[in-house]
Amino acid sequence: METLSKEKFSPHVLIFPCPAQGHVNSMLKLAELLAIQNLHVTFLNTEYIHKRLIRFNDDIQAFSECYPMLEFKTISDFHNEEEHPGFGERIGDVIESLSLYGKPFLRDIIVSEKITCIILDGIFGDLATDLASEFGIQLIHFRTISACCFWAYICVPKLLECNELPIRGEEDMDRIIRNMPGMENLLRCRDLPSFCRENQKNPITLDYVVLRSQQSLKANALILNTFEDLDFSILSQIRLHFPKLYTLGPLHHLLNATKKTSSFKSNFFKVDRTWMSWLDSQPLKSVMYVSFGSTTPMKRQEVIEIWHGLLNSKTQFLWVIRPNMVQEKGLLKMLEEGTSKEKGLTVEWVPQDEVLAHKAIGAFLTHSGWNSTLESIVCGVPMICWPYFADQQVNSRFVSEVWKIGLDMKDVCDRNVVEKMVNDVMVDRKDEFLGSSMKMAELASKSVSPSGSSYNNFHDLIQFIKLTAL
Ligand code: UDX
Repeated sequence: METLSKEKFSPHVLIFPCPAQGHVNSMLKLAELLAIQNLHVTFLNTEYIHKRLIRFNDDIQAFSECYPMLEFKTISDFHNEEEHPGFGERIGDVIESLSLYGKPFLRDIIVSEKITCIILDGIFGDLATDLASEFGIQLIHFRTISACCFWAYICVPKLLECNELPIRGEEDMDRIIRNMPGMENLLRCRDLPSFCRENQKNPITLDYVVLRSQQSLKANALILNTFEDLDFSILSQIRLHFPKLYTLGPLHHLLNATKKTSSFKSNFFKVDRTWMSWLDSQPLKSVMYVSFGSTTPMKRQEVIEIWHGLLNSKTQFLWVIRPNMVQEKGLLKMLEEGTSKEKGLTVEWVPQDEVLAHKAIGAFLTHSGWNSTLESIVCGVPMICWPYFADQQVNSRFVSEVWKIGLDMKDVCDRNVVEKMVNDVMVDRKDEFLGSSMKMAELASKSVSPSGSSYNNFHDLIQFIKLTAL
């Protein structure tokens, strides 16, 4: 009898990420960290995403064997394989179907697995709120976006109230936003999350992201993948609304500091390693790494402009061009044939953390996805930001104007600008950007070291999960 009741109340965490690369990456890092602390974790993937993980990660079996406390489970996302919206531009369709039909399946898992705590991707909003109160279990929301973007979403109603929103067309884009505590007079309209732009085509609307962010107020706690020294002024504002806030970032760095061996990569694409010997042969900090994340699509002219900018610059480059990034296959061929091996290399998908840590990498031309930004910060690699959507517009502003670890190329795609910025970051202003990036990297390392803020917060989170399971 005693064994039964002990088993019933032993902490068991259900983690459910939005089925997109950046979300799965960071939430799986948290799952691994919890399993290392001997907490029982069930990680819930959609069937569609789990198939990709199995297909593109040879080490998934070994990973599972390494962590008997961590179990993968899958759930349907209610879309046929043939007409599946994928995990890119139409991810909103998948979030919507899971929000509409996912609840009974979550309920079954909570009951059968005796779940004591749910860590839900906050993008799902209210999906698990009723379930958590019905079963008297803890609900924690994890927002995988940046703190500055999350805070911007929370501020949107106030911006509407004082007529700072909506944005009134293209001519309004450089207007300064004033009523945002913690970032007064910092953002222009163009630096607000992309959903504030009227003409943006994403099915996820501004109302949608604002509502989902407000729904996190009903959770017992909030997790953000950032660290105190990076975002202190924003975090103090967020804490006024979300007092139980755990900043655990950079999570991949916390995991590496805990484990000291390389962690599972959770790739959604086949990893290409053909670049390794080429990169090894390049001089110290001489190569610009170029990658626009897992979802950004590119138009023909944008590819051409960036390519010419890179070709005309004074440095070499390593450019990730995902299989689904450009529609026109002939364009890729043209890039490959038109780039000499001395100048650069295009590849399909790389282990990005390894590339960023390579001694030959001097800077990162990025879409400013939050994981990419943190990975670059950890490695002390300065950035040139070319944001595409969501939090990326805010992140790139912070990179250039707050943290001063790079340049923001937002809303421009011109070969001359690319060339100038690459030369600035890699050559002409190299010491300036490298100096500030290295300082930020030190702060990131401090945060995940014993007694650092993220380290301490992670251990507080474990206590919270254990105590509230009793
Ligand atoms: C998007 C948003 O950009 C991001 O801000 C939000 O938090 C989640 O959704 P994504 O476009 O996937 O994410 O960008 P990012 O957050 O940077 O994540 C991409 C991940 O893919 C990174 O962890 C990166 O290391 C990895 N990656 C990318 C690879 O492993 N190999 C590659 O070749 C390119």
